[in-house]
Amino acid sequence: MVKPARRASHVEYAIRDVDALAQELERRGRRVIRLNIGDPVPYGLQPPAELRALLARAVEEGYNFYSPSEGLWELREAIARRESGLGGRSVDPQDVVVTAGVSEAISLLMAALVDEGDEVLLPSPCYPVYVPYVRLYGGVPRFYRLVEEGGEWRLGDDPSELVTERTKAVVIINPSNPTGAVLSEGEVRELADAARAVGACVVSDEIYDELVLEGPYRGAASVCGDGPLVVLNGFSKRWLVTGWRLGYMCFYGAEELRDAVVRLARTRLSPPTPPQRAAALMMGRDGGFLEWLRGEVRKRRDHFLKLVGEVEGLELARPRATFYAYLRLTVRGAWGDDLGFARGLLEEEGVAVVHGGGFYDYRRDRFRVVFLPPPEVMEEAVERIARFIRRHALS
Ligand SMILES: Cc1ncc(COP(=O)(O)O)c(C=O)c1O
Repeated sequence: MVKPARRASHVEYAIRDVDALAQELERRGRRVIRLNIGDPVPYGLQPPAELRALLARAVEEGYNFYSPSEGLWELREAIARRESGLGGRSVDPQDVVVTAGVSEAISLLMAALVDEGDEVLLPSPCYPVYVPYVRLYGGVPRFYRLVEEGGEWRLGDDPSELVTERTKAVVIINPSNPTGAVLSEGEVRELADAARAVGACVVSDEIYDELVLEGPYRGAASVCGDGPLVVLNGFSKRWLVTGWRLGYMCFYGAEELRDAVVRLARTRLSPPTPPQRAAALMMGRDGGFLEWLRGEVRKRRDHFLKLVGEVEGLELARPRATFYAYLRLTVRGAWGDDLGFARGLLEEEGVAVVHGGGFYDYRRDRFRVVFLPPPEVMEEAVERIARFIRRHALS
């Protein structure tokens, strides 16, 4: 018996619990309507044709080597141009580090940032991966609440009351996974001010910034003042290339942290090179594709909102960004909590969703769906959800 390290026992990913059950049902031959995958590609959407051709060309032209650990210089330049062109603080290519997806950026950043006992302030609900990484390095995740009121999500806590001298970072996920909401400029500033008051770094995950369906939206670099800021972004959702594993981080006023991240990045040699080359050539030429994508996502969202509007027992704030809807159960049911709902719905109706607890939501009455499947599939899924609620609702 090989005993794994104790620290690995802190690593959990609750979303996978429901997914494992979905896979088990599929293995047994059941059809599962999957509304649980945060990946547009399995729903039939594909990356821009031009980008696919650029990837093939990169391979043909010999971009098959290890790139520098920080990424290909031409891509770092293109990223710096894009980020600096958003109207906020400008970033030098030297301060851009290319990673294997935002996922790797999160792992490198937390490894470089968090010491035993350090606190990281995160949203609740939160894209879950942040939490196990904070814990892996001995840190303590703390949460500020996002609350829904009158069909809008807003900051539910005063972050200045939640930061302490142990707070190393304040994480902003804007637009939000799972709520699909966009923080206001004032809210981003409040979070940044709280970080600055205790000398903490702002970490802003903006992976859905090209999927804002209804403005206004401002990224952290154009809202936060001059405190240390790390912006995380990537190509997975923007260009529908989740499997290419390409993301990046931009450091503003955080040179020591950048150097620590680069030291760690050297141990994994390089992010994948051919996609970097393709991305460098594609940047700045994606306007038409992004317009098309937003139009498509908007259409699917509006169809979903119409379907859900007719279901007794469900409520949601209109998602203003992303391809997620985060629904609230307005009735109590024999299913118990959110996890019971997600499991029951999957077992009885073959519909996979993610329970709010999987996102460290402090409430237990919500679940997330991806609304990207074709209209007829969404209609069937919503009908099945409605049937499950009718069958088990307690009066
Ligand atoms: C908020 C957020 N950050 C980061 C990621 C990771 O994305 P990737 O590693 O594909 O860049 C995701 C993926 O769903 C996400 O929703």
